Amino acid sequence: MSKIISIFNQKGGIGKSTTTINLGAALVKQGKTVLLVDMDPQANTTVGVGIDDEELEYTVYDLLIDKKVKKESILEIIQKTPYEGLEVIPSDITLSNAEITLSNAMSRETILNRILGEIKQNYDYILIDCPPSLGLLSINALVASDGIIVPVATSFFSMKGIKHLIDTITLVQDNLKPELQIIGILINMFDKRKNIAKDLKEQLEEVFGDKVFHTAIRINSQIEYAQDSKTPIIYFDEKCNGYEDYMNLSQEVLKYEW
Ligand SMILES: Nc1ncnc2c1ncn2[C@@H]1O[C@H](COP(=O)(O)OP(=O)(O)OP(=O)(O)O)[C@@H](O)[C@H]1O
Ligand SMILES: [Mg+2]
Repeated sequence: MSKIISIFNQKGGIGKSTTTINLGAALVKQGKTVLLVDMDPQANTTVGVGIDDEELEYTVYDLLIDKKVKKESILEIIQKTPYEGLEVIPSDITLSNAEITLSNAMSRETILNRILGEIKQNYDYILIDCPPSLGLLSINALVASDGIIVPVATSFFSMKGIKHLIDTITLVQDNLKPELQIIGILINMFDKRKNIAKDLKEQLEEVFGDKVFHTAIRINSQIEYAQDSKTPIIYFDEKCNGYEDYMNLSQEVLKYEW
């Protein structure tokens, strides 16, 4: 049974791309086939799995503006990565035009849903990296998804944004996709030596209960080194905390009861 999951939070720099890349790679390590969809013009997921975003002939933008969704054109745009079982629909900076180009398009919120519907069965999991905004690109991602993972940092400003984020998800559920589920809230860049981090973690667990993943991704500089060498941490260093945490997260995602 294929599942599509958006990694979503409108706040920037919170670990959406890192989680898309490394949860994807960890699921592949567990024998699953995974497609990553880069819905961010910053192209961090594209670059993070070793694809050169400046050399691409076509990107997700070409699919989104195509009036007719054709399976052949989708298959043409999917890129293989150096990692068997891990593929990506790439993006580049041209995707920043999409919010304007699509603003008058018919059924503009459901374009990605139709695109992924054509190829969903080819993969066990499709993970969508969302941009740090609540515009049409994120809405397209949510409408195309069965579930959402929300990375958060244990900082005061990050917590403040969560209410706004839940409101957005509820709006999408009420108007466009009633079956959309919040799979879990993922605490990222966790530093257990900081009391504030521990306090905010407890607060999150009080409000969201078992919707908070047991696994928190610890702050780990190897994650940044891996990114710098355009390699998922899963294939970069099997002995670091980042590897262990993302493997544990992938187990939780595999066990999730839909
Ligand atoms: N657990 C971690 N430990 C250390 N560094 C991390 C961790 N998670 C993410 N980072 C670093 O934090 C930065 C932001 O992460 P990332 O790009 O994944 O966030 P994002 O939410 O996708 O950002 P944006 O909103 O700009 O798309 C990156 O440099 C990344 O390497
Ligand atoms: Mg990102």
